[in-house]
Amino acid sequence: MPRLAVIGFPVGHSRSPAMHNAALAALGMDAEWRYEAIEVAPEEFEARVRAMPAEGFAGANVTVPHKLLALGLADSVSQRAQEIGAANTLVFGPAGIHADNTDAGGLIASLPESPQGRDALVLGAGGAGMAAVWALGALGARVGIWNRTAARAETVRIEVTERAEQFEVEIEVGVVETPPEQEAPVDLDLSGFELIVNTTAVGLGGEDPFSHLPLRRDGFGPGQVVVDMVYSDVPSTLLDAAAAAGARTVDGIEILVQQGALSFELWTGRNPPLDVMRAAARG
Ligand code: ATR
Repeated sequence: MPRLAVIGFPVGHSRSPAMHNAALAALGMDAEWRYEAIEVAPEEFEARVRAMPAEGFAGANVTVPHKLLALGLADSVSQRAQEIGAANTLVFGPAGIHADNTDAGGLIASLPESPQGRDALVLGAGGAGMAAVWALGALGARVGIWNRTAARAETVRIEVTERAEQFEVEIEVGVVETPPEQEAPVDLDLSGFELIVNTTAVGLGGEDPFSHLPLRRDGFGPGQVVVDMVYSDVPSTLLDAAAAAGARTVDGIEILVQQGALSFELWTGRNPPLDVMRAAARG
């Protein structure tokens, strides 16, 4: 029986098992295949992954905080995972452990239109921010990065620029700075951005995004696409405000579904039912 899993630390909140098991059931594969959640601390990650093929695993999703470790232990790495510098999908095959990245593809697939030639603002400079900057920039968006800690935004800019040279990809990326403030960050003028992507953890704990991010509740407008990669059980305050202003919105569950669908295809070779995955992920 081929097994699949999501490996994280923690991983209890993950909606991936429900989503993938629903897809397996819809395709009549659930008598054979099963997707589970495995919690592993970083120091045990490599040993756990190396044991998985012998335990019948065909592949795995890898989530926070293991995406760099996953890239490092693989026997082969896809071009896109090398470019992004992180792996969220492992495939166990006869040639060993193969690492891939479906985060960037999932983000792009969830957008209502191509980011090519668009002005994009990425909020956040962690792993998710880095992947979003690369995904959008490599497809020809002009990307500005804002981060609470400006130095981290600069680090992402330098890293993306260096990697773009290495892989001969043209990427236009800059840092968008706001002067440091005691309380809330100074609001940016969003009118020049056609695409705004929040990759920060703001909103996850119910924080008000408008007091932590350089955004005004009424700063959005029609013609914009606003993406909130953070999802929780409550609707995104950011997306509610964007939708009220006439912007098109994409939530974190849609991105989860799209990246999951790409991973599913890598493991099974089957085209998964997006609607079934969406319904299961939304719970
Ligand atoms: P991930 O890999 O999932 O992106 P991460 O590396 O922990 O996670 O990054 C979290 C991001 O959320 C960072 O950009 C962080 O900003 P800092 O670099 O300044 O820490 C951002 N973030 C978290 N809490 C925040 C807050 N209250 N206000 C603004 N940004 C916040």
